[in-house]
Amino acid sequence: MTTKHYVTKNEKLVRTIKWSAAFETGIALIDQQHQAVFEPVNELGRAITAGLGAPEIGRLLRAILQDIEEHFATEELLLKENDYPGYAKQQAEHEQALQKLRRIILRSPADHLSAAQEFHALCCDWLINHISGPDRAYAEFLLSKGVL
Ligand SMILES: [Fe+2]
Ligand SMILES: [Fe+2]
Repeated sequence: MTTKHYVTKNEKLVRTIKWSAAFETGIALIDQQHQAVFEPVNELGRAITAGLGAPEIGRLLRAILQDIEEHFATEELLLKENDYPGYAKQQAEHEQALQKLRRIILRSPADHLSAAQEFHALCCDWLINHISGPDRAYAEFLLSKGVL
């Protein structure tokens, strides 16, 4: 019974996120960066299932955070340069997500698998919602203005 619960729980926690046309913004660099974050997030899911130790999990979390930080910086520069009206809102959403991810990393050495699960769930939800919502909205704006 315990084993069954454990498997079910992990199947849910290690959901895989798959890239699809729903995530495409039509801006090549942005699509490339978005897509590039999917694999490490899925790798983290596999690391959780495998029950990797704190050092390995820590490295994965920091690497994903760095990818996301770099992507946000690219995106914010692009939006600022093109006077996107929703720039402040985008930046605030990015900052909020980064703060949550950084807080999880800080507590990960003490409880790395629980931290990894939370980090993974947050990345999955956030990537899906943010890319298909606010990110696609700015892309529409930029493409309609012909700036790209
Ligand atoms: Fe964004
Ligand atoms: Fe984005």
